Amino acid sequence: MTDINALKTEITTEIEAANDLKSLDDVRVSVLGKKGRITALMKTLGGMDPEERKTTGQALNQLKDDIADTIRKAESSLKKKEMAARLKDEVADITLSPRPQEMGRIHPISQTMEELVTIFAAMGFEVAEGPDIENDWYNFTALNFPPGHPAREMQDTFFLPETEDEEGEYAKKLLRTHTSSVQIRHMENNQPPHKIVCFGRTYRSDFDMTHTPMFHQMECLYVDKGVTMAHLKGCLTDFVRAFFEMDDLPVQFRPSFFPFVEPGAEVDIGYYKQGDGIKLGKAKDPADQKWMEILGSGMVHPNVLKNCGVDPEEYQGFAFGAGIERLTMLKYGIPDLRTFFESDVRWLRHYGFDPLERPNAATK
Ligand code: PHE
Repeated sequence: MTDINALKTEITTEIEAANDLKSLDDVRVSVLGKKGRITALMKTLGGMDPEERKTTGQALNQLKDDIADTIRKAESSLKKKEMAARLKDEVADITLSPRPQEMGRIHPISQTMEELVTIFAAMGFEVAEGPDIENDWYNFTALNFPPGHPAREMQDTFFLPETEDEEGEYAKKLLRTHTSSVQIRHMENNQPPHKIVCFGRTYRSDFDMTHTPMFHQMECLYVDKGVTMAHLKGCLTDFVRAFFEMDDLPVQFRPSFFPFVEPGAEVDIGYYKQGDGIKLGKAKDPADQKWMEILGSGMVHPNVLKNCGVDPEEYQGFAFGAGIERLTMLKYGIPDLRTFFESDVRWLRHYGFDPLERPNAATK
């Protein structure tokens, strides 16, 4: 018994002396391991007489349980101590300022196209698309430009090198000079009524302050029974006023010529001079009212309808086309067309739009 009590004191002292988990485990192995001190004593039980074995056995089991318990407690307090020490040593330094988050900007052209989609969707138009590389039929002939017609030259077309397997005037590939080609493609592939808007790149061999070889156009086509010039005027006036967000923006229609419409009209919006700049809107004094052209329009020419398999006796329609850069420059006061395509990030930061505030967000 005294031996067991002495052993208990000895082991307890060793446990208390262990000041890390590793030395505590060494103590555990030396006591309870296969060759441990208590394990060795357990093995001596076999040689004892029954009475002695009973009391010694009980005492040893008690000692084993007590020691195992003491070790568990010591282990848990050592773990806590180690954790506290780690938390103290490994403090994360959160004082470094975060890197600025770069947020992109929406290009003004994309912004305008989204605004236009929103306006036309509200009027029941669908968005149609067509290819940038066209052939003569879709860009000219179907649109009532007769072969050799001078209007073809007016458009400064970029022609692509002729391919060997495709011959003839109609197959000649070119970069579309206007989005009116999409009207033809849509009418060929769908049954009337047609009510579409289209947005896309267009190309003309031209470069100066107000012209770039690539620019964007919007095209609108409405074909149904009994469509008249009054619908054209109403739709266009609503669109222009909605886009410029001015209910009283003066709008004027001027007769003009495009082969694919009859009659044709150019549309002007009113502005007046203010200081060094200009301001859209109605001038106080009618003598100060000035006009600028913003788009071309007209009633779809019967030949165009016929070319697309639509009977002009049954269906009529209107169409118009506008330059998207021009609309954007006027609405947002951007002075130079060429800057749109220079990919200057500073320009985009200044004139671009917040990507989280889209015009056709569900909240509108
Ligand atoms: N396609 C013409 C242009 O590029 C614009 C237009 C479209 C005119 C539709 C009338 C009708 O100038």
